[in-house]
Amino acid sequence: MSLPSSWKRYALLLAAVVVAGLLWTRPRWLMNVVKRVEPSPEVGARLVEKYGCRDCHTIAGRGSSTAPNLDRVFAYRTEEEIRRWLENPKRIKPNTAMPNFHLSDSEIQALILFLKQVQTE
Ligand code: HEC
Repeated sequence: MSLPSSWKRYALLLAAVVVAGLLWTRPRWLMNVVKRVEPSPEVGARLVEKYGCRDCHTIAGRGSSTAPNLDRVFAYRTEEEIRRWLENPKRIKPNTAMPNFHLSDSEIQALILFLKQVQTE
């Protein structure tokens, strides 16, 4: 077996850098491909478990109270504000404790539909 010629090595290096960059930044267009879900409230309920939202929030009457209770969030936030928050919390509030979950658009939609369904007023 011979060593790859130098242009092949450069191509492999470039590919490795691109892949590492995508894994690091997890851009939403990529999440839309790999984390495509059915945007329904039922899926939203499962995503709340998957991402551990209740570790910090109360949702549908259950969870923690270290972060705002989300059962009335639509009373003071628009759907668009919630969407932009879920896309990247730190872009809205740099020192927030809420992590960026690198959600896809359909995951965000499912979470919004579930949160809407459990609103208490
Ligand atoms: C590590 C704790 C933590 C986790 C986990 C977490 N959040 Fe949050 N979240 C916060 C905090 C804290 C705030 C309030 C903003 C602030 O003051 O930093 C917040 C704010 C929000 C808001 C805006 C509420 C408002 O009053 O404006 C929404 C919506 C929200 N979170 C949804 C979610 C969802 C959905 C999940 C799961 C995918 C989640 N959060 C997971 C900590 C968390």
